Amino acid sequence: MKPVYHFTPPSNWMNDPNGLCYFGGKYHLFYQHYPYAPQWGTMHWGHAVSEDLVSWEPLPIALFPTKQYDRDGVFSGSALVKDGKLYLYYTGVRYTAVDDEDITVSKDGQFEACQAMIISEDGYHFDNFHGKRQVIPPITDETLGHPIHTRDPKVWQWKDKYYMVLGSKIMEPGREDFTPRLLFYVSEDAAHWQLCNTAGHFGGLGSMWECPDLFSCPETVIVLSPEQLCNTEPTNNTVFGIVSFDYDRCAVEIHPEVFRYVDYGLDYYAPQSFLDKDQNRVQIGWLRFPAPFPNGDGTQWIGAMTLPRVVTTEQGKIFTRPHPALLDKFPLGKREGAPYRLELTLRAGEAFPLEKDYSLSFHGGAVIATRKGRDYPAPAAGDSAALTIYVDGCIVETYVNGGEAVITHVLEEIIE
Ligand code: FRU
Repeated sequence: MKPVYHFTPPSNWMNDPNGLCYFGGKYHLFYQHYPYAPQWGTMHWGHAVSEDLVSWEPLPIALFPTKQYDRDGVFSGSALVKDGKLYLYYTGVRYTAVDDEDITVSKDGQFEACQAMIISEDGYHFDNFHGKRQVIPPITDETLGHPIHTRDPKVWQWKDKYYMVLGSKIMEPGREDFTPRLLFYVSEDAAHWQLCNTAGHFGGLGSMWECPDLFSCPETVIVLSPEQLCNTEPTNNTVFGIVSFDYDRCAVEIHPEVFRYVDYGLDYYAPQSFLDKDQNRVQIGWLRFPAPFPNGDGTQWIGAMTLPRVVTTEQGKIFTRPHPALLDKFPLGKREGAPYRLELTLRAGEAFPLEKDYSLSFHGGAVIATRKGRDYPAPAAGDSAALTIYVDGCIVETYVNGGEAVITHVLEEIIE
């Protein structure tokens, strides 16, 4: 049931997509990877390339711990193409106390996080020993950001400057819960960074914002993966909303009411976006799995990426649609053991059973995916809902009303 067009790690653990870019005629996908077991551990950056966003060629591990400041993990980050070179930015992690029985995790969450970069000439060679440099040291001013939980640099160019956003949180005086926070930095050369501004919002959008992303398509969209967003499992989920961003001051206001789930299936987390060669804004997210799958050769793998989705804003609404390069890879009509696509319209009260323990239904106002008795609703206006369902191995992505909402699930019954 290994999917064909959803990228999966050759073996062992994968989480967030990192360093997505089009560079040297190829798409590069890096990913959070623990290469020794199908569980989260000391983070490396796995690597794969593609000519078309359809077929991925796995490559050797790109980044791994070599420095005191990243000795316990090369956490999530992003890519920038500058002067014909590939600049990668990541969070370097150093545990200040380790779990004696599992040195791949910190003891009681005690670690230090800094922001670092590495430049590759060709996108294939990464000098982990001599090429890394720390660009933002661990935060020590707790009124600015959290000394441990400040991470996931997303870097982009705007006119003649470079911008970086980090996710963080602070404890504001008089409060008992954390306020999530974004830190914005600016650079003239993409190597030296100066703090420009912060943004945050107390209440309604979780405690810490992981993997922030900000882009225009054409309106400005901000993507946040808040921790403790909900009270029910999974508590961390990804939302996005249209905002306005003032580049002179790096100023943005966050109003929770304009945010919605990027994917209502809630298996989805920590997406990242980049521009494809035709300047489409493409977003890829990580699909969390309940358990690993066997590869059939004694190894296992866990985690998948979503299909690449094109994000656009149209009349104040955000749409996400599968990348056009994929469309003819999913022929219409059910097939056994190969990717396929279904198109159907549901009227209020109608349901469509797709697989054992997995169905889709429409109840005026919402399309509901029901997996093993639990409902996952996505808003859908109108008398009927048009669904396009992409099935690829154990993964189902359902696009509602031409990309107004997406519900993606890993079919758990297939795993068991
Ligand atoms: C999100 C995340 C990031 C972090 C990485 C570590 O899933 O927690 O914030 O950089 O994963 O693997």
